[in-house]
Amino acid sequence: MLKRAVVFASGSGSNFQALCEAVNNNELSLEICLLVCDKDNAYVIERAKKYKIEVLLINYSINSTFEIESMLLDKLSELKINLLILAGFLRKLSPLIIKNYHHKIINIHPSLLPKYKGLHAIEQALANNESDIGVSVHYVDELLDNGPIIMQDKVSVVGLNNDEVYQKVHDLEHVLFVKALKKVLEEY
Ligand code: GRF
Repeated sequence: MLKRAVVFASGSGSNFQALCEAVNNNELSLEICLLVCDKDNAYVIERAKKYKIEVLLINYSINSTFEIESMLLDKLSELKINLLILAGFLRKLSPLIIKNYHHKIINIHPSLLPKYKGLHAIEQALANNESDIGVSVHYVDELLDNGPIIMQDKVSVVGLNNDEVYQKVHDLEHVLFVKALKKVLEEY
């Protein structure tokens, strides 16, 4: 049976789109049932519309964290979600959601974890003169960018300008995310 996923994202959503394409090409036996987004102007919302995926916009300035989390837990259970995929979601999930979906929440981070956790990982690596920049896909636990690694890879950024670095790392992300999710689904 197809596993059912929700994607959480806050930004442009190029990773979200890579996953939607892999689903449409039958590369991933997954159904993306819902996009959860916390920014009403995020481009990922446009992408979700294009793929006809329901969008749930959450607004932390109107609702309390408790209200949002209770609503989210209800929604995820109503949709019988098997996997929570974080694709550039700029908030920490609450311990309650993490506990309820233990080993079912997957995140992508642009560094070779445990190096360069947190925001601006690519900038951190560049500031440290790294010649390679990595990408990690990992299970999520209570700590930031911390759970067990599912897959990692890296690209050389020697001689590239910043735009080229971001493009190359994003290109790697799009491929690695699909590969790692395939692995998760095979082992599920
Ligand atoms: C990616 O670099 C991802 O690794 C990080 O957030 C960024 C999201 O990019 N967690 P996009 O919105 O998918 O283009």
